[in-house]
Amino acid sequence: MKVLVVGGGGREHAIIRKLKESPLAPQLYAAPGNGGISYDAQCVPIAATDVAGMADFAVREGIDYAVVAPDDPLVLGMVDALAARGIPAFGPDKAAAVIEGSKVFSKKLMQRYGIPTARCEVFDNAEAAEGYVRQNTAWPLVVKADGLALGKGVVICEDEAAALAAVREMMREGKFGASGSRVVMEEFLTGPEVSVLCFTDGKTIVPMVSSMDHKRALDGDKGLNTGGMGTVAPNPYYTAEIAAVCMKTIFGPTVDAMNAEGRTFKGCLYFGLMLTPDGPKVIEYNCRFGDPETQVVLPLLESDLLAVMQAVTSGTLAETDVKFSEKSAACVILASGGYPQHYEKGKPIAGLAKGQLPQGGATVYHAGTALAGDGALVTAGGRVLGVTAMADDLPAALAAAYKAADGIAFEGLHRRADIGQRALAAIHPV
Ligand code: AMP
Ligand code: GLY
Repeated sequence: MKVLVVGGGGREHAIIRKLKESPLAPQLYAAPGNGGISYDAQCVPIAATDVAGMADFAVREGIDYAVVAPDDPLVLGMVDALAARGIPAFGPDKAAAVIEGSKVFSKKLMQRYGIPTARCEVFDNAEAAEGYVRQNTAWPLVVKADGLALGKGVVICEDEAAALAAVREMMREGKFGASGSRVVMEEFLTGPEVSVLCFTDGKTIVPMVSSMDHKRALDGDKGLNTGGMGTVAPNPYYTAEIAAVCMKTIFGPTVDAMNAEGRTFKGCLYFGLMLTPDGPKVIEYNCRFGDPETQVVLPLLESDLLAVMQAVTSGTLAETDVKFSEKSAACVILASGGYPQHYEKGKPIAGLAKGQLPQGGATVYHAGTALAGDGALVTAGGRVLGVTAMADDLPAALAAAYKAADGIAFEGLHRRADIGQRALAAIHPV
């Protein structure tokens, strides 16, 4: 069985590693993949956003099943394009991917179906948006670009000047292109954040183990927003009681709402939640696995990922086993100095043999690596590696991940030293 994974980051590497464990023994391809992924799958140089090129390749190579992992090809309709050529694929179709592709769509969906989220207003012209900012009295105000913006389209504005600047950049200067032609302005919520990824075939919803991302670049949640600097799972703030509330008030109603809109969602639906004093609320939906949430969630999956994904595609998730380990997992991202702004590439990476640690115990997922002409592994992106360890509890998983990360070096390496500290505070309040 030939399986193609679309994408080339740490999330895709974690998916590929788990697919490799499948008893169905798939022959794995990655497009475009990366240096480290090439140890585990045959990498094909097709951009993840090249919808037509990907479908052509899949037909030519006789791919039996595809996994479309990143947001942009999903929003562009790659799952539809593959299906039209007879290739089943994991992920929502274009009509359903809009739940991430347009924040205006997702906010209106939540308002229409009574799904708890921050109160908001939508604007499609800059004058009206600026007028709203000038009469606003509750700060901070959260300003969000409507469309995909590499995780950078959300600005928490402390005052009027900051909000006017955000509106100007998005709506007048086109900082995010068409993604910023409409903006959402919403109330600022507080509370611990939780990521919950769910498998769903549009009928059955199976939440995966919960997790916590660390979005800011620097320790103490300071610095710029990044794609994510580390994760832990499970998230200790997400108790069984809260999980039951979320299933009843958020997960079920969202899947039902998408069905009612004629946009049945099949794939991994990611709920970015905030546990506010008024109960759990949706901060954002993603139409895909999170990165780096996947690097702690999938290692804890004990069932066959390929079988689960195929069940999602064929609508038989209710009859499929999805079991997670009781253990904990931690992932520490090793990034290039300067990320998420300017950084250098091509730095040799020391400490890995064939892309992995010489001794077992922790797993290295490659996010931005390449193989140089001589076969040496070099840095090739902002987030370079994700070091994941599993253990019986969170402190042990964190200790093992940091110990393994200590053995890896490249010029300019930047990592956070406090991944998991907020989660530990939930377990042992001070
Ligand atoms: P996003 O890129 O949509 O994941 O948003 C980035 C981050 O901004 C989230 O992880 C939250 O920490 C924060 N955020 C987004 N919306 C709100 C809100 N309404 N209130 C408080 N924080 C928010
Ligand atoms: N880690 C957050 C995301 O994947 O959007």
